[in-house]
Amino acid sequence: MIPPQQRSIETVDLTIAFGRGNQRRQVVDKVSFTLENGGSYGLIGESGCGKSTILRALAGLNSDYQGAILFANQELPPIRAKHFYRQVQMVFQDPYASLHPRKMVYNTLLEPLKLHRLDCHEDRITEVLQAVGLSNAFRYRYPHQLSGGQRQRVAIARALISEPSVLLLDEPTSALDVSVQAEILNLLVRMRQQRQLTYLMVTHDLAVVTHLCQRIAIMHQGKLLEELSADAVRNGLAHQAYTRQFLAASET
Ligand SMILES: Nc1ncnc2c1ncn2[C@@H]1O[C@H](COP(=O)(O)OP(=O)(O)OP(=O)(O)O)[C@@H](O)[C@H]1O
Ligand SMILES: [Mg+2]
Repeated sequence: MIPPQQRSIETVDLTIAFGRGNQRRQVVDKVSFTLENGGSYGLIGESGCGKSTILRALAGLNSDYQGAILFANQELPPIRAKHFYRQVQMVFQDPYASLHPRKMVYNTLLEPLKLHRLDCHEDRITEVLQAVGLSNAFRYRYPHQLSGGQRQRVAIARALISEPSVLLLDEPTSALDVSVQAEILNLLVRMRQQRQLTYLMVTHDLAVVTHLCQRIAIMHQGKLLEELSADAVRNGLAHQAYTRQFLAASET
């Protein structure tokens, strides 16, 4: 088990390009940031600026990148070892697409337990369902028998069941109804407190990011422009003109 004080995530000049030949386009450009252990870090910026691409590279879903990604102060190999996936879990925007349509909740939750050779399957499944606010009866449901909010609870339970230290959250509430959004956000806040989790969250919602994140980075066209506190974002106190415009335009 990695000691809690060493669970930070860091990127150094992370650079990612897609396509071949003259179609090749750089979508993440020398992005460096540090996500302190136990902290919550937000990534915001216009559509297509590279937020999800960064998360996917951190999660080990895309090994084709330049620069370095460090976890617990050690540089990670582009192809991650299995134990990394136990420590760092990702929650996607659309819980319907991210859950297998023909798998019961029980099997969705059992899979990571088997993969990581964890014991006490029944107890762990009961415990994690309870933690995300679903009764035990939900273990026999299929995704199409769940509401959007319930699906996202299952996706969060799946991420939590291997007892990770870091959650990568890619717009975890944007596919949900406004009233359900608040429930899921409260759940995420509670889970972070109870389990001392570290969060990296992508969202286009300023109210969400300032509620959940202590530090917030603003991206533009693949570059990380600047990093601000939640208070600075709330008050529009940015150093760069682009960021001020972006914050003003994003206010609802
Ligand atoms: N696998 C891929 N192949 C080619 N281009 C890609 C691929 N994945 C992403 N891109 C491109 O990289 C750019 C950044 O995409 P990304 O999904 O990271 O944006 P984003 O900031 O998450 O946007 P949004 O807020 O709309 O989700 C986009 O121009 C996208 O079209
Ligand atoms: Mg995205």
